[in-house]
Amino acid sequence: MYKAFYGLREHPFNISPDPRFLHLTRRAHDALACLFYSLSRRRGFVLLSGEVGTGKTTLLNCLLLELRKRNIPCAFVVNPRLDPIEFLELTLSEFGIGGPSRGKGQMLQRLHHWLQDRQAAGRTVVLIVDEAHTMSLDLLEEIRLLTNLENSAGKLLQIVLSGQPEIEDKLNLPQMRQVKQRIVLHARLQPLSLEETEGYIRTRLKRAGANGQGVFSPEAVRAINRYSQGIPRLINLICENALISGFAAHRRPISVELVEEVAQDFQFDAPTAPSPSAPPLASELPASLQRILSDPKLSTAFLNFLQLVEQAHNP
Ligand SMILES: Nc1ncnc2c1ncn2[C@@H]1O[C@H](COP(=O)(O)OP(=O)(O)OP(=O)(O)O)[C@@H](O)[C@H]1O
Ligand SMILES: [Mg+2]
Repeated sequence: MYKAFYGLREHPFNISPDPRFLHLTRRAHDALACLFYSLSRRRGFVLLSGEVGTGKTTLLNCLLLELRKRNIPCAFVVNPRLDPIEFLELTLSEFGIGGPSRGKGQMLQRLHHWLQDRQAAGRTVVLIVDEAHTMSLDLLEEIRLLTNLENSAGKLLQIVLSGQPEIEDKLNLPQMRQVKQRIVLHARLQPLSLEETEGYIRTRLKRAGANGQGVFSPEAVRAINRYSQGIPRLINLICENALISGFAAHRRPISVELVEEVAQDFQFDAPTAPSPSAPPLASELPASLQRILSDPKLSTAFLNFLQLVEQAHNP
């Protein structure tokens, strides 16, 4: 209803994780580059973590899109609250090799043969598990066993676990140390800083057709960052409701007072400071990856290079 009033073609702040509205902050870009790097080097097990609503599923969708563009077989399990047998059944069916089987042994055998065939054909195979913090410890252990499927050329199955910070607590349990030791890369998403929030709002408005005229005043954007604490899902919620109220009140650009009204309606706390800038992901990575990621030109070239490597593997 407000679209024409603000010169938009679509709703800019839907809360579905739609890759068309992707805004890659430096950190999200680095996380994606690292995930891609580890998968294409067949390193085995990688972890993506972040607070509720920081963009994990959005990033995974983006990764999935890139992998599928390159015809890399992927299984995407979004609800891993399953027992090990159900999980295996779902994974096989995601890979398109499901079907009647006589128990776990037979399913594992089928998966192993299929992975060996893929590797003989030079293919990388990826299993992505979202909401991994909801997995039982039994299932985590079972997934670790899947990373044992390997031959001299490396791991047959690349696994991405993604979840809220509770996944880190689970992995820190003494009985989970075998799983933890196999994780070759851990990328963490953080809330957005003020500058990143500005970029995020600008990108989404532009993708929705905004012509560059201010929809939100600069003070309103600062308030959105403060109330949302830089969490993308909350930024969307505040922006969407501010657009609805702004349209009703015929206000353009949307003012800080209007954002405050929306924040009060949703009973957001009123923090005084903008959300802090997150340190770059590179500071948590091995030196070799740090050097690549600290240079924006190099890291873009690096992503392109990985694409070429993949294409060379899979002409
Ligand atoms: N990088 C991004 N670019 C554009 N939109 C984003 C981005 N990150 C998050 N969002 C928006 O924020 C919403 C929440 O993101 P998402 O569902 O990916 O978070 P999450 O970390 O998976 O949350 P949860 O922990 O609840 O599963 C998304 O629906 C999307 O609209
Ligand atoms: Mg999610």
